[in-house]
Amino acid sequence: VREVLTRHTEFTVRLYAPKMDPSVGPFMLARDETALNWRDKSIMRAMLPWEDLPSVRAMAGRFADEALDGCASGGRIEVVSQLGRLVPVRLCGEYFGFPGPDTATMFRWSKATQTDFFKNLAGDPKIHAAAVRAGQEMAAYLAGLIQDERAAAANGAPAVGPETAVQRLLRTQFADGLGFDDARVISNASGLLVGGVETTSQAVAQSLEQLLLRPDVCAAAVEAARAGNDARFDAFVWEALRFNPINPLLFRYTEADSTIAAGTPRQTMLKAGTIVFACTASAMADGTELPNPDAFTPGRPAHHLMHFGFGAHECLGKYVGMAMIPEVVKRVLTRPGVHLLPGAEGAIDFKGGPFPERFVIGLGTP
Ligand code: HEM
Repeated sequence: VREVLTRHTEFTVRLYAPKMDPSVGPFMLARDETALNWRDKSIMRAMLPWEDLPSVRAMAGRFADEALDGCASGGRIEVVSQLGRLVPVRLCGEYFGFPGPDTATMFRWSKATQTDFFKNLAGDPKIHAAAVRAGQEMAAYLAGLIQDERAAAANGAPAVGPETAVQRLLRTQFADGLGFDDARVISNASGLLVGGVETTSQAVAQSLEQLLLRPDVCAAAVEAARAGNDARFDAFVWEALRFNPINPLLFRYTEADSTIAAGTPRQTMLKAGTIVFACTASAMADGTELPNPDAFTPGRPAHHLMHFGFGAHECLGKYVGMAMIPEVVKRVLTRPGVHLLPGAEGAIDFKGGPFPERFVIGLGTP
């Protein structure tokens, strides 16, 4: 898995391009070893500086608390729509600076694009058409947003709240030679929504479920949270997610006949044109590399975790996600009396699709 994901000129992201290009335009994840990936990822990393992470975490916590407070009197929360998707969509508005027209539209744009880009290897044309339409709607919305931001700046309107990533992109003067024009701003701003919502939602639902299924582990995690030890708490979340990762695999295209695991009993020749699955979920449970992979061991070394991908295309939003996801999970688990509901109702329901759609948990004494 590591080899496939690091030998990125041999095992490429070529298959993303026909999906992404007509939707969000040429995008870093659909380009290997190109000016576009190099430039856009560098610029976008700079727009999401680490100095923001404490406030990102606090913001995610505030959104989670508001969602939980709103559901407390009913004694239950539907984790996917009321928390897992909602928190990143609100963060996309307040931190990334891409609020969208309304929550339902943001959910639709995010899911339509994620489904086509990552879950439509067979190429269902209806799924692709929905993603293209979502991308075009996002581009039209973002073009309007850019115009409004520029008009507000020209009128000397006072800044409202902390500077967002989109505002930073617009306020930064890029030399013409860089070719980072409004089309690039729109494409990359779309990526902030597309990358962050279904992934966060799935990570929140699946790590919560894995923790709630293990009462002793859960109690230890809550103890770490109550002691104010975020680093210790977060380790429980990432280990929980290893038992049900958001992604079983990342797919790549073999450009030329290539041998992997050369010189080992696993040596395999992949013919040019082969679609290869780098099974990150399986790698994270590999007993030849991880000591005692079936044991729940919080604090495994970072190089044994691949929740945010691996190699050249490692997630742009990794550190935002690493702040947001555990904080949301923490706000849930530190509520008194949080519990799984009995039977099917208490399990994550995918409703036959690729993403969690419904996961109800109890709040308060059962
Ligand atoms: C928080 C907002 C997020 C944003 C803005 C974001 C954005 C991105 C972008 C732009 C890439 C492509 C990077 C490149 O091509 O160099 C990427 C890759 C990836 N992201 Fe994220 N992401 C976010 C959250 C997450 C979360 C929460 C997860 C999982 C828990 C995740 C998992 C991944 C994975 C597995 C890849 C690698 C895809 C591949 O190699 O084919 N992302 N992300």
